[in-house]
Amino acid sequence: MTSKPQIVRTLRALRGASRNYRAAKKTVALVPTMGALHAGHLTLVRRARRIADRVIVSIFVNPAQFAPHEDFASYPRRFKNDIAALAGEKVDLVWAPSAAVMYPDGFATQVTPQGPAAVGLEDAFRPHFFGGVATVVTKLLLQCLPDVALFGEKDFQQLQVIRALARDLDIPVKIVGVPIVREKDGLALSSRNLYLSPRERSVAPTLYAVLTACAKKIRKTGAIEPALAEGRITLTRAGFAVDYLEARDAETLKRVASLSGGRLRLLAAATLGKTRLIDNIAV
Ligand code: PAJ
Repeated sequence: MTSKPQIVRTLRALRGASRNYRAAKKTVALVPTMGALHAGHLTLVRRARRIADRVIVSIFVNPAQFAPHEDFASYPRRFKNDIAALAGEKVDLVWAPSAAVMYPDGFATQVTPQGPAAVGLEDAFRPHFFGGVATVVTKLLLQCLPDVALFGEKDFQQLQVIRALARDLDIPVKIVGVPIVREKDGLALSSRNLYLSPRERSVAPTLYAVLTACAKKIRKTGAIEPALAEGRITLTRAGFAVDYLEARDAETLKRVASLSGGRLRLLAAATLGKTRLIDNIAV
C-alpha cells in the first residue's frame, strides 16, 4: 500500500508537523537528500522506517555545496518520481524548501568544519564543499529536530564530517551511517551515474574493482603504498583521471603509516569523461 507523504515547503508548516510528532511522543528520523532518488537513498529511507515512528526525507539541491564550475544547474531534478518512490516507502513528510526559504536575503552564517573536513581528500579538490554541506545539514537538523539522521557511507568523508558536527555543536541527534548500495557489477549507486555514456558506464565499475584489489593486497602483504600505487596506474590505464586513491584511518581520516592500530578505509575519487565518481571500502 502506498500513501503520499505530506509535502512541506515552509518552515512554519514544518515546525507544526514536528510539534505534532513530539506531542504524540513519536520518534523522528531524517534522511537528507538532494533528490533524484535511487535504490541507495531508498535503503536509507527503509532503515529510517525501521528505527523511528515518523520519517522525514528532505529534498534540496543545495547551491552552497557546488562551486561555480560544478553541476548545480544540470544536477538531476525529478521531484515527481521522487515523491512516488517515497510514497512506496511510507514516508510521512517530505521537506522541500526553495533556496529562498533555506537562504533568505541577508543570510550570513556559515558552519566551517575542520578535523575530518580538512584532511586532503574531497576537501582538497572541492574546497567549498564541506562548508556548504555542514551549513545545510546543521540547518536541516535544526529545522526538522530528528532523533536520528541517516547518511550513506557512499560519501564516507561527509559522514565523518557530519558525525563531528553533531558532536561538536551538541546537536541532540544520533547519526547513523548506512553501507553503500551497489549495482551488480560493483558500481556504487549515485545520482551522477546518469551522466555516464554507455562506454563510460562499462568502465566505471573498475573503480570498485581496484578498491577491492587494493584492500585484498594490503590485507595480504601489510604494505599500503605499493598496492595504492598499482591501483592508481590501473585506474589511469582504464581511462580515469585520478584525484586520489588513499588509505586513511576510518574515523579521523588521517594518514596512516601501516596497517597496525585502528581500522583502515580506502577512499577514491576519479573522473571519467566529465563525471566525477567517488567510492570507498573498508580494509
Ligand atoms: P545525496 O547525494 O542526494 O545523498 C543523500 C544521502 O544518500 C547521503 O547520505 C549519501 O551518502 C546517501 N547515498 C547516496 N548514494 C548512496 C549509495 N549508493 N549507498 C548508500 N547511500 C548512498 O549527500 C548529499 O545528497 C548531500 O550532500 C546532503 C547530505 C543531502 C546535503 O546537501
